[in-house]
Amino acid sequence: MSQTSSTATPSAVLSVPNSPHQTAPTPLQEQPQRKDVDMVLNPPEWSDEMSVGNSILDADHQSFLVLTRLLFESQKHHNQLVILSAIHMLEEYVGGHFLREEKAMKAAKYPQLAAHTLKHGQFRARVKAIAEVYKSGTLSAADGLAEIVQDWLRQHVLDEDKLYVKWISDIHVDTRPLGILALEAQG
Ligand SMILES: [Fe+2]
Repeated sequence: MSQTSSTATPSAVLSVPNSPHQTAPTPLQEQPQRKDVDMVLNPPEWSDEMSVGNSILDADHQSFLVLTRLLFESQKHHNQLVILSAIHMLEEYVGGHFLREEKAMKAAKYPQLAAHTLKHGQFRARVKAIAEVYKSGTLSAADGLAEIVQDWLRQHVLDEDKLYVKWISDIHVDTRPLGILALEAQG
């Protein structure tokens, strides 16, 4: 999968490179649900260099990028209901995904587990602080949140997550849905 420019047109952003449907458009591609599916399969700002070699963890990271796009769009249209929903999802994703990674690192006896967990904790606290201020009524608290998440995720994946790639195998990764892990992280 190749990286897609954030300045690309919406139709380009939502297309699936190398898709067999791309060279022979069908009526199905014109339907709104097709765009939703494309967005999940090919989230903006994802690139192969971000892969950590495990499809579940990659899918988590891609979900974060899809969520940042939702935040971008909802902020552009000042849709407070969707922004609030996206913030709730972000908190769940952060909790669930970080737990999945930390469980995998622990199972693999990854030597830098403590340092990595500390980075997760710092970002979790940052998101929580922004969410609390937003929920208390200061709507401007969410300004720039999508960029914060997007920039942090890319940097974290490339600088920290990539370091555990040689340690973690598929057998170390909890494959349960993100929502289940999010509940476990709260407990
Ligand atoms: Fe991580």
